[in-house]
Parts: sequence; C-alpha cells; structure tokens
Amino acid sequence: MRYIGNKTRLLPFIVRTLRRLAIAPGMAHDAFAGTAAVGRALKEEGWQVASSDLMTYSYVFQRAYVVASRIPSFARLAAGDADVRRALRAATRASVRERAGRKGRLAAIGEYLSFRAVPRPGFLTRHFAPGGDRMYFTEENAIRVDTARALLHRWRLDGLVDDDAYFLLLAAVIEGADRVANTAGVYAAFIKQWQPNARRPLVVAPEAPLPGKGSSAHLGDASAVAGALGPIDLLYVDPPYNARQYAGYYHVPELIARGWFDDVPVLRGKTGLIADGALRSEWCSARGAERALAGLLEATGARHLLVSYNSEGLLSDRVLRRAISAAAVDGRVRRFALRYKRYRADRDRVGRRYKGDEVRELLYYARLR
Ligand SMILES: C[S@@+](CC[C@H](N)C(=O)[O-])C[C@H]1O[C@@H](n2cnc3c(N)ncnc32)[C@H](O)[C@@H]1O
Repeated sequence: MRYIGNKTRLLPFIVRTLRRLAIAPGMAHDAFAGTAAVGRALKEEGWQVASSDLMTYSYVFQRAYVVASRIPSFARLAAGDADVRRALRAATRASVRERAGRKGRLAAIGEYLSFRAVPRPGFLTRHFAPGGDRMYFTEENAIRVDTARALLHRWRLDGLVDDDAYFLLLAAVIEGADRVANTAGVYAAFIKQWQPNARRPLVVAPEAPLPGKGSSAHLGDASAVAGALGPIDLLYVDPPYNARQYAGYYHVPELIARGWFDDVPVLRGKTGLIADGALRSEWCSARGAERALAGLLEATGARHLLVSYNSEGLLSDRVLRRAISAAAVDGRVRRFALRYKRYRADRDRVGRRYKGDEVRELLYYARLR
C-alpha cells in the first residue's frame, strides 16, 4: 500500500545493518508496523516477530503478512457457499497447472471477490463514491469493495473461513482499494477529476503467506505491547516522523479494516473522517515523541535496539542520541546512514520540511542489556 514512512525501499539497508551488527535472528518487536513490510522481511530472515500498531488496517496486514504461515484450504468455504464452489471449479478448469492446489484456489477466491460475486452496494458506495459527494472511488469500484467486504464479514460469521483466510483476503481488499483510490497517495483529500488508476477495475490479489511459526500481531500502543512482551532480542522502532496523524491520512483503509456491520461509523467533514475514532499518536509532536521514546525504552525488555529515523523528522539527532544513550547498557549509540535523492512525489508531499534534494534515512543502534 502507498504509505507514509513505508520501509519497503529500505529493507535491504535494514537487513544489511542487522547482519553487520551480527545480530542473529530471535524474537523481534516491530513496534510501529504500518504496512508490516519490516515484520515480513524479518520473518523472511528467520525471525519470530511480534508486531504492533494503533491502526486496525495495520493489524490486518500484520495478521496477513507476518502471522499467517500457510495458504488456507478454503474447504469449508467451498462446501458452504455454492457460488464460491462454482467459481473454484471454473477456475480449476480454466488453467490446469497454475490453478491447481492452494495457490490457485487463493487466486480464484481473489477473482471471485474482484468481479465474480453478485455486486451489492453498501456503506462505501453511500459515503465514498460520487453518490455520497465524495470522489474517493468510482461507483463501480465502491460497489466492488462493498461486495467483497460484506462477503468476508458473512463468511467469517458463518464459520466458512478461519482467521488466517479472513485476514489474507481482507488485506488484499484494502490493498486493492488503495490501488484504485482517487487520491494523491493519502486519504486526507480526494481528487476532483478521476485519475487513471481510479478508473481501473478493483483487483483483489491475495498474497501467499511466508512459512514460519511463532509470530503475533497486536493492535495497540508500542510501549504497552513492549511491556507485555517481556524479554526479547530486538526492538525495531519506526515511529511517525512528523505532525501528520495517520488516523486522519488513512481513515478510508481504517474503515474498510474495521467494517461497518456491528456499529455503523459516524463520519464527519468533507472527507468523511471517523468521528469517534480519532486515534491521536503522541509521537506526532516533538515533545510528545521525546517523552514517548523514553517511555518505550523503559518498557521494552529487548537486548538490541534499532531505531529508524529520517533526517527531516521532528526529533533532532542530538535528542535521539541522548534518549538512546541513556537507555544503552554502555551509553554507546551507533548510527548508520543511507543517503538518497528525493523523488519528485516526495518533494510534493504536504507537510514535509524540506532541506534540499537529499534525504538521509538513519538507523540508530544500541545494546540495551
Ligand atoms: C513510519 S510509520 C511505520 C511504517 C512501517 N515501518 C512500514 O514499513 O510500513 C509509523 C507507524 O506508527 C504507527 N503509530 C503511531 N503511534 C503509535 C503508537 N503509539 N504505537 C504504535 N504504533 C503507532 C502509525 O499508525 C504508523 O503506522
């Protein structure tokens, strides 16, 4: 998903740094999981990962990309839903080898959710399509997301899919919706003309999970989760760098993740923000972030600490070093930097403090015990 602070591009730098520090895989806490990109990469490197974030969509990604470890069989779904059974049979006939097996069934369910299921407009069509005076999705795509989201809810309620299947498919719906959202990348505003990506049809393309046991997902504050986890090997910290609250920039994925079936969400304003669910993070102000970092370092039982930060972030190098060195077992802080040229899209983003064409991504390391 297009996400502020997404570390996908920096994964080689993070993994390389861990190797350079000779930290062998064990139990890691990816405390600000976001898209779960880092948790997923750590899992691939052989780590067990506990991840956390305040946002429900992040919890969905954590479950899909870090916790789930095998492709579900979908046997109960096929037995309990005649339409799905027919779709699976058609898909199996369509291509012999690629479609066979669990991977093929996963893709076929994705296709079913993308365009085969009988379309039924719902909450998203009412509030986030032109009929609701918000141009986040074309009418057709809003109906498709509504259809897929409602089916997932019903399948789970009827016991036709287990948790792994539910979260794998829900993650794919959120990612698919993001690809066709009529925005400049964040949901703080929609664009008043349809963008080329918004005109494309929704594609739900679930990803096969990585093998690996012992990981867990947490919806909650980083420090609270760190305290509950107790002794672990590595704490990876990638907090918000600036004043933008993720709850306001990603309210649409948040709504899709939470659903609208038990309590109908109350929306406010031009963009349909979630009225009652304003999850404000104290990491989004300099003073709050300094306090929260000290609290997190106090709460964690990790042996090694790795903090990602950006040279344009709210906390200065001096403040970061002071806080980390106070928590380090030997007072020592090591810093690794990766320089890269700013992309145009990056330059155009709202609310960033720009200092030239070069950005430095930083990794601070300390041994905590
Ligand atoms: C820079 S992003 C993390 C990006 C992530 N590493 C990735 O690659 O996608 C910061 C994340 O911190 C989360 N966050 C903000 N305050 C938090 C808190 N107190 N506890 C846990 N997560 C928090 C935000 O929701 C956001 O997803």
